[in-house]
Amino acid sequence: MKTESYQSLLKKVYSNLAPSFAEDWPKLAATRAEGAYLYTEDGREYLDFTSGIGVTNLGHNHPYVLNAAIEQMKKFSHSAVGITLHEPLLRLTEVLPTVMPDGMDMFFFGNSGSEAVEGALKLARYVSGRPGFIAFRGGFHGRTYAAASVTSVKSKYRLHYEPFVPGVYFSEYANPYRCPMGDTAEDAVAWSKRSLENVFNHMIPPTEVAAILVEPIQGEGGYIVPPAEFLQYLRQICDEHGILLIFDEVQSGFGRTGQMFAAQTFGVRPDILTVAKGIANGFPLGATVASHELMSEWKAGSHGTTFGGNPVACAAALAVQEVFEKKNVLENCRKMGEQMMAGMQAIQKEHDFIGDVRGVGLMLAMEIVKPDGKKTTDGEKSFKILNTMLDNGLVGYMAGPTGNVIRLIPPLTVTSDQVDKALEILEVSMKQV
Ligand SMILES: Cc1ncc(COP(=O)(O)O)c(C=O)c1O
Repeated sequence: MKTESYQSLLKKVYSNLAPSFAEDWPKLAATRAEGAYLYTEDGREYLDFTSGIGVTNLGHNHPYVLNAAIEQMKKFSHSAVGITLHEPLLRLTEVLPTVMPDGMDMFFFGNSGSEAVEGALKLARYVSGRPGFIAFRGGFHGRTYAAASVTSVKSKYRLHYEPFVPGVYFSEYANPYRCPMGDTAEDAVAWSKRSLENVFNHMIPPTEVAAILVEPIQGEGGYIVPPAEFLQYLRQICDEHGILLIFDEVQSGFGRTGQMFAAQTFGVRPDILTVAKGIANGFPLGATVASHELMSEWKAGSHGTTFGGNPVACAAALAVQEVFEKKNVLENCRKMGEQMMAGMQAIQKEHDFIGDVRGVGLMLAMEIVKPDGKKTTDGEKSFKILNTMLDNGLVGYMAGPTGNVIRLIPPLTVTSDQVDKALEILEVSMKQV
């Protein structure tokens, strides 16, 4: 087949694509990817510290995962779960409970993170018989209607879409870097407690709340790491009032934090968990997960899917688990995370516009601010830095309400040399900007 150049093809058909996508994407003409690298048509090599936004956690085209997918494709690539309960799905269902947070051992497989969130919200209302949801300001849970209804990171994600799914109330997240009450972890927790009490006192009593939905680390919101006490407090409130606690681990899951899930990193147990992204290293798969006790109440026919739990994606997900088990992926994530964090902190010391450096494992970020002593966000500068990094061969991605956070999400298999190289590019890029 005759192929025209990527750039010429892009130019020709770009106007046929919905303009609703964000315009901040790096527009990389990648024609091939392997491990931690993206390769473009003009022969350039880029260190990819986005992993397709936290998806290719084992690196691009991991040979073992790829092979498992190919072998499954030779057998069959689709059969709806309602028709064939195929072997890859059954085997995955056998393996996943061994790595999930305690008690998370029943699964509804879908295709994406948004769909996993939809499932979680429907399940919570269905089993509790209550109407309300509490979500957190700055959170991101997806683009489908219910998922968008509980999302509040940017008003443009909500503009022109009203009315949303009713019964959603927003409370304050515990953000130690931006807490109006003070700079400490205790202040951040106290602030979030006060806010939740206000929601209960003024908007919806806890007896009417089906679930509290929270990202244990806010992703799109700017890689905000809350104090563990915040999540412990939510667990306690949920236990007190019979509310279900949903952890959205679409971004923080499958090894990103150095444990399989942030629930394990923080030592807090959710009632329902949403996963996607890294589960199958790039094949579309997601899941709503809960205990047998809870999910068994979701009666036959009350929720379903055509594509969810696709056999190729399930075979890939199974291979992902085998690689995690055999290759000490979590240990590498923790070690490389420490190396990366130390380097980022050293760079921060040289630049007053790097307001904060934070993260857990290899879920890392730098928040860019104006050096005005008021922590004013500087999305414009953050964008310039990202573009300079790109020119220098390192792909990062933005986050935060004004794009003011640079997130670095390398594969969990990244090597020490690659981390050093990325830090070198970061340092040079910050100086150039
Ligand atoms: C925490 C979280 N939840 C849900 C989603 C939505 O996932 P998807 O884009 O696969 O629908 C995302 C995507 O970035 C996410 O980060």
